[in-house]
Amino acid sequence: MLELSLVERYEDVGSEAAQEVATVLADRKHPVLALPTGGTPRGMYTSIVKRVLRGEIRFSHAHVFNLDEYLDLAPTDSHTFRSYMNATLWSGIAHHPASWVIPDSSPSDPMAECRAYDRALVEAGTLDLAVVGIGENGHLAFNEPGTPWTSTTHVSCLSLETRRAAALAFGGLIQTPTRAITMGLASLLAARRILLLVAGRGKSAILARALLEPPHAAIPASILQTHPNVRILADMEAASEL
Ligand code: GLP
Repeated sequence: MLELSLVERYEDVGSEAAQEVATVLADRKHPVLALPTGGTPRGMYTSIVKRVLRGEIRFSHAHVFNLDEYLDLAPTDSHTFRSYMNATLWSGIAHHPASWVIPDSSPSDPMAECRAYDRALVEAGTLDLAVVGIGENGHLAFNEPGTPWTSTTHVSCLSLETRRAAALAFGGLIQTPTRAITMGLASLLAARRILLLVAGRGKSAILARALLEPPHAAIPASILQTHPNVRILADMEAASEL
């Protein structure tokens, strides 16, 4: 079932999303979370850090999976999602989660890295909450259009559209990675609850297609229609074509 929550401003997407994370951290003895990167969740992380510093929540009992990571970057490269998470969440809260799994950005054997990620997912148990964003082409994590819905963790060849969206941060398309490791759609769909964060007018067209068209592989996010427990948290601009 899809629940659509509309909020007035981008800031509200962040605070509402942080509340969802806080609820899982408080309710579960060993919470298992999947967390996203990108511009959209920045507000959520700001709000989470404030809550941790106020002593309202903690991650020390939580198992955290990052949804994806670029390949072919040094682990210390500031563009990796590892660096993003360190800068955006972990450095601000001054304690570590029980475990944090994020693919290596320069593994000697990417396939083995995917298998290790899948093993860690199995060991951690069911994801209690997966927080995801959406790409302008409908991708979820780095599951690009056409990815089979049965996919587990895999190496994704990034589409030109996805690379163009990232190119500014990398200082040009040439410098932008061409591949990444991503959690697969089957693993994502196995989560008890999925929270989709969507903000800004640039996402309005794809959000409308993902929710209103019949689910199909050309729009990976449309698969969310088939999950029993999804909340979409969108600001007014993102929801303007619904
Ligand atoms: C990247 C990430 C996705 C994210 C998407 C949208 O491609 N792999 O997980 O949802 O970008 O990012 P943004 O929120 O910056 O638009």
